[in-house]
Amino acid sequence: MQTVVSGIRPTGNLHLGNYFGAVKNFLRMQDEYNCYFFIADYHSLTTHPTPQDLHNNVRQVLAEYLACGLDPEKSTIYIQSDVPAIAELSMLLGMNAYLGELERTTSFKDKARKQPNNVNAGLLTYPVLMAADILIHKADKVPVGKDQEQNLEMTRKFAGRFNHMYKQEYFKIPQSFNYGEALVKIPGLDGSGKMGKSEGNGIYLIDEPKPLQKKVMRAVTDSGPTEPNSPITEPIQNLFTLMEVVSTPDTLQYFKDKYASCEIRYGDLKKQLAEDINKFTTPIREKIVSIREDEEYLRKVVKMGREKAQESAAQTVEEVRQIIGLKRF
Ligand code: TYM
Repeated sequence: MQTVVSGIRPTGNLHLGNYFGAVKNFLRMQDEYNCYFFIADYHSLTTHPTPQDLHNNVRQVLAEYLACGLDPEKSTIYIQSDVPAIAELSMLLGMNAYLGELERTTSFKDKARKQPNNVNAGLLTYPVLMAADILIHKADKVPVGKDQEQNLEMTRKFAGRFNHMYKQEYFKIPQSFNYGEALVKIPGLDGSGKMGKSEGNGIYLIDEPKPLQKKVMRAVTDSGPTEPNSPITEPIQNLFTLMEVVSTPDTLQYFKDKYASCEIRYGDLKKQLAEDINKFTTPIREKIVSIREDEEYLRKVVKMGREKAQESAAQTVEEVRQIIGLKRF
C-alpha cells in the first residue's frame, strides 16, 4: 500500500483553502492509503507564537481535523513535535541543502519581504524540515494545495540528492497529489490571490453564520459586465471558484448565465454564496465545538498517533544513520 503524508501549520483556524486544497483529499485518501496527517507545530515557530497561543492553535487544528472527518482508526494523526526524529532527519538533510537554492525559494522571498525584521534561519530551512516530514515516512504521495508545489519540488530534490550521494534508491521520490488532478488554489475574498491565514481574506470553517455572511457580502467585485459575454474579471472569477466548491453546478451555471447576459446582481450572487458556504460549514463547525471540549478524546487521539508516527520515524532515522555511516559502537 502506498504511503501518504501531509500537514497543516497551526497558525489559526482552518479556512476553505485548507479544506479544499488539502483536507478534502485527506478524507478520501485515508480509505485507500497508509496515511500520516500531522500538525506542523515546529513549522509554526517561524512566526514566534506565544506558548499559550501555540498550544491552543494545535488543539484547535486537531479538533478541526477530527471534525472534518479524519479518522484516527484509519490514519495516523499526530503532532509534529511529538516526533523529534523529524528534527534529526531535517538536520541531516540540511547538510545537503544549499544556501542559494533555499534563498531562491518563492515562499522564503515572500516571507522575508513581509517580515523583514524576522528573517530567521527556520524560514530559510523551512523546505528542509518539510522534506524531513515527508521522507520520514517514505511517502509516495503528498496531498497539498498549489502553493506548496515548490516545497514539494525541493523535497524531491533533497531525496534524489541523498540517493545519489549514497548511491542507493533509499528515499522514494514523492509526488504532490490532488484527486481532481491539478493542485487547487482557493482564492480569497479580496479580489486577487489565494485565501490565506496571513492575508486576512479567509473564510474559516468555524465562522458563525452572521459574520460569515458579512465577510462574503464585503467581498471585492467590479462594476459589472457592460457587454454580453464579456470576459470574467478576476474578483468575479474568484467568487465563481468559491461557488464551484460549495454550490451545486446548477447554481453556478445560473449566475454564470446572468453574468454573460449582463443581468447579474452581485448582491444576489454573494447572498447565495454565503448561504451555500454556511450550509457546508455548519455541520463541521458544530462538531469542532463539541470535539474541542473533549479533552480525554483529544488526548487519546494524540497518544495513538504519536506512537505510530514515532515507530515509523525511528525506523527511517536508524536506516539513514546506517547509510550515512553514523554507526553505533
Ligand atoms: P499551510 O498550513 O499553509 O496550509 C495547509 C494546507 O492547505 C493548503 N492551502 C491551500 N490550498 C488551496 N488554496 C488555498 N488558498 C490554500 N491555502 C492553504 C496548503 O497547500 C496545504 O496543503 N508547509 C505547509 C505545511 C507542511 C506540510 C508538510 C504539508 C509542513 N510540512 C509536509 C505537506 C507535507 C504549510 O505551510 O501549509
